[in-house]
Amino acid sequence: MAQRSYGIDFGTSTIKISKKGQGIVLDERNMIAVADRHAIIATGNEAYDMYEKAPANIVVSSPVRSGVIADVANMTALFVHFIKKLSGSKKPGPADYIVATPTDITEVERRSFYELISRSSLKVGRVKIVDKPIADALGAGLEIMTAGGVMIVDIGADTTEVSIISLGGIVLSKLIPIGGNKLDEAIKGMVKKKHNLYIGDKTAENIKKKLASALPTVEASVQVYGRDVVTGLPVLMEIHSGTVYEAIAEHLYSIVDAIRIILERTPPEIASDIIDSGIYVTGGSANIFELKGLIAKETGLKVNICEDPANTVAKGLGRIMDEEQLSSLADSLRIKNLID
Ligand SMILES: Nc1ncnc2c1ncn2[C@@H]1O[C@H](COP(=O)(O)OP(=O)(O)OP(=O)(O)O)[C@@H](O)[C@H]1O
Ligand SMILES: [Mg+2]
Repeated sequence: MAQRSYGIDFGTSTIKISKKGQGIVLDERNMIAVADRHAIIATGNEAYDMYEKAPANIVVSSPVRSGVIADVANMTALFVHFIKKLSGSKKPGPADYIVATPTDITEVERRSFYELISRSSLKVGRVKIVDKPIADALGAGLEIMTAGGVMIVDIGADTTEVSIISLGGIVLSKLIPIGGNKLDEAIKGMVKKKHNLYIGDKTAENIKKKLASALPTVEASVQVYGRDVVTGLPVLMEIHSGTVYEAIAEHLYSIVDAIRIILERTPPEIASDIIDSGIYVTGGSANIFELKGLIAKETGLKVNICEDPANTVAKGLGRIMDEEQLSSLADSLRIKNLID
């Protein structure tokens, strides 16, 4: 086994990396800026700063879409860049890797995470895969090896993953293509429809962070800059929380529906554990105001919004690397079978 080990959560919006013995060591936007189709000019947060501002010859994009790798070349370049940055060397020594992948994806998609790391230009020791909900639950502080059934709902940027875990294994898991990005898009669309105002993705995300509430109880507003659709001129306009609620409610109810569907399929013995422990919610979008209230109201169950919810997967990967008794949760067997 190599001396160093890294745990990677390739998120659509952010990439989080934890290191054995050190916890989370990197948390950056999963974005890359490429000029003239070949030259990487910025990565991570720096690339995000260029998003929506770059001239036509510079393309700023995210190589992960809907929880899976959509652009292997750029994701590999970003991954190698971040590991070099973390090790402080242009030729880092060998390291082992654990990567968290969604459960409800195809074997080909899962394999692409493995291959991205093993075929990179880095010196790679062992590569292991862990189901994301398992890492998520560990990062939320749950003792999944001994605990009965738990439900974990990870609401990220492009995806929501609803899973039931029992005795250290996944019983059910469903990945739906709804997350923070859908909410941003909906806010953009509603602002355009109601105010004839065209706003960018970043502005929509900022509005969401300030005003999005899962119940129509919050009364607030923010001033934003945008372009008047009719005159074409830049204007400053006030956006109210009611407009934001109107835009996002439908998507939040789709997430609630996914939770309900999984609850309906959960075996009764496990369901009784979930009634006791409640639903655990993680992912950056768990920060939306009143989300706890909405899910509790619609399911009748207790809801726990986890602390620092965007980082629970990476934290859980850290625990798997640090705690000997958890190491069996990451495996390479499934992938080996595919390759053999
Ligand atoms: N305070 C906040 N209020 C509302 N949404 C937030 C807040 N903070 C972060 N988010 C949203 O959380 C999302 C990012 O969460 P996270 O880092 O869990 O996603 P990801 O892991 O990159 O995506 P995925 O798991 O879907 O691949 C973004 O859509 C972001 O706008
Ligand atoms: Mg995620």
